[in-house]
Amino acid sequence: MSYRKKIVVANWKMNPPSLKEATKIFNDTKKFSGRSNTEIVICPPYIYLNQFRKSRLALGVQDLSISTVGAHTGEISAEMVAKNGAKYVIIGHSERRAMGETDEIVNKKIENALSENLKVILCVGEKVRDEHGEYLNFIKAELRNSLKRVNRKYLKNFLIAYEPIFAVGNKNYAALSPHDIYQMVIFIRKHLVEHFNDADARKVPILYGGSVEEKNAADIIKNGGVDGFLVGRQSLDPKGFGGILKASSKI
Ligand code: PGA
Repeated sequence: MSYRKKIVVANWKMNPPSLKEATKIFNDTKKFSGRSNTEIVICPPYIYLNQFRKSRLALGVQDLSISTVGAHTGEISAEMVAKNGAKYVIIGHSERRAMGETDEIVNKKIENALSENLKVILCVGEKVRDEHGEYLNFIKAELRNSLKRVNRKYLKNFLIAYEPIFAVGNKNYAALSPHDIYQMVIFIRKHLVEHFNDADARKVPILYGGSVEEKNAADIIKNGGVDGFLVGRQSLDPKGFGGILKASSKI
C-alpha cells in the first residue's frame, strides 16, 4: 500500500465535440477537487487547453510532437504545451503506439517534454499475457527503450502508467485484478531502480489504467499498490469520475 499523494489523470481522448460540452464536464469535475491528498490532472484535446488554464485543476495533454519547432504541419511542440498552461503530458499511449509510434519516437518525445519541464506520464502495457511470462520481457524492453537517454535528474518529473492493452477501452470494463496489478507495480519499480541506479526511482508514481471505474477503483488502489489512475471513458462522466476520486483519496 502506498501513502503518497494520489494522482488521478483524466484522458478525454478525442472527446467531447464542442467547447460547451467540454466546459460542462470540466466544471462538473472541478466540484470533486476539494480533496487535498489527490492531484487531479485533466488532459483534454489541445484545442480546449487554453480555456481551462486558469483553473485550480492541473492540465495535461495526450501527446506532443517529436519535433521542437518549425515546418511540421499539424504538430504541437512541447514548448507550446508548456506555454499554454499544461503541466503534464501523456506519452506512448497504446492508442498512439497502435498508429505506429515506436519506443524510439516515445524516447524523443520524452526528451522534448522534460526539456520544457513538463511532467511525463509514460504509458507501458502488454497486448496479451502468456503463461511463460513473455509479457514481462515485453514491458521490460518497453521501459528500457523508452527511458534510454533519460537522465536521472528528471526522475521527479516522471510517472509511469501501466495499462495492459486488453483492458484499455474494454467494453466489459474488465480491469486487471488488483493482485496482478500489484505484481506488475513491483516489477516496474524494480526495473526503474535498476535502470536509474538511484533511490529516487522508488518515488516515481506508478498509475494503473484500463477499465477503471467507480466499482473497481477502491479495490485496485487498496490492493494494487498503485499511486493513482489513468482514466479514459469514465473521465467524461463526472459522476463516475467523482466516484473514482473518492475511492482514491480514502486510502
Ligand atoms: P479506459 O481507457 O479507462 O476507457 O479503459 C484508459 C486509457 O486509455 O488510458
